[in-house]
Amino acid sequence: MSQDSVKNIMSYETVALDDENSALVIIDQTKLPGKVEILHLTEQKDIWNAIYLLQVRGAPAIGVAAAFGVYLAAKRIEATSYDSFYAQFLAAKEYLDSSRPTAVNLSWALRRMERVVLENANKSIPEIKELLHQESVAIKDEDVWMCRQIGEYGLSLIKDGDGILTHCNAGQLATSKYGTALAPIHLGRERGMNFKVFTDETRPLLQGARLSAFELFADGVDTTVICDNMASQVMKNGWVQAVFVGCDRVAANGDACNKIGTSGVAILAKYYGIPFYVCGPTSTIDMSVARGEDIPIEQRPAHEVTEMWYQQRMAPEGVNVYNPAFDFADHELITAIITEYGIARPPFTESLKEIFRKKQEAQKK
Ligand code: MRU
Repeated sequence: MSQDSVKNIMSYETVALDDENSALVIIDQTKLPGKVEILHLTEQKDIWNAIYLLQVRGAPAIGVAAAFGVYLAAKRIEATSYDSFYAQFLAAKEYLDSSRPTAVNLSWALRRMERVVLENANKSIPEIKELLHQESVAIKDEDVWMCRQIGEYGLSLIKDGDGILTHCNAGQLATSKYGTALAPIHLGRERGMNFKVFTDETRPLLQGARLSAFELFADGVDTTVICDNMASQVMKNGWVQAVFVGCDRVAANGDACNKIGTSGVAILAKYYGIPFYVCGPTSTIDMSVARGEDIPIEQRPAHEVTEMWYQQRMAPEGVNVYNPAFDFADHELITAIITEYGIARPPFTESLKEIFRKKQEAQKK
């Protein structure tokens, strides 16, 4: 696709609710960049599949999709008692929660929705359904705000003309707007700044080549796609002043789980003395998990490595395949974690607590 034909991707909503038609509306990200196809999903099985198959993907976006999904499930429940309503709601919640294990935003958003049901047991079922509607919309609206804040904080760490390397897609396509790791770049563009961005293609599902390059290019950003194994060379050339990546779950000690390959990029950045920034909202920080080793890592099917995207199979039939979808950057490799409540720096065991203290203060107001 030419730059002109991709221009309007930034004006599409990654995840939306069509309440009138009881549908979750998403851009099918498995079709990008070749085709912008909008899906209207009404069945729970289709919503589950959309998350599992990465038609909608990225930690914040799957949280929003799950919130809308469970609201749509609740809307359909025909129950005469609260207990029966809650039992059916719980089954729908657990079903969606089983679609992907690593990004904590999924269970975070679903828990938020469940809390609405639990805290309003004295209300009528139609009232609870309306409160669930409001909560799902709030989850999305807050996501836009969080990404903008992350963008502002991130932008304060770079200057016009900098070279930036990113891995996977933590952009608008992974959130409700702006993205996390790409938010500083999109915000910088709005202010007339120019960055030179290197996007790792991100094997095996190519989120960097297909999605980050697509949305950055559409936004007029100077974008260069590189194979994952070229990052070292690009850094060695002196072309990268900062690395920005997203995250799927950050442990209490700052270990940051993100798309497979992130750990290697962090090691390279440390070697070349380049700051390595992890961008994520507090909904991605899981203080109940002490360290990266305790984060569940999704294992994906072999065909994503051996066949998908190729014209013909690229590995012998029957060969073993290892396909973990995520790894984590050790906290010692991370320069800072950028959240909507500020920039956390080492030691993260302290600074992340401080971020949550700020969040609590802000929520009291
Ligand atoms: O498997 P994906 O494409 O859902 O993985 C996405 C990532 O790893 C992103 O970097 C992360 O979710 C942050 S999105 C703002």
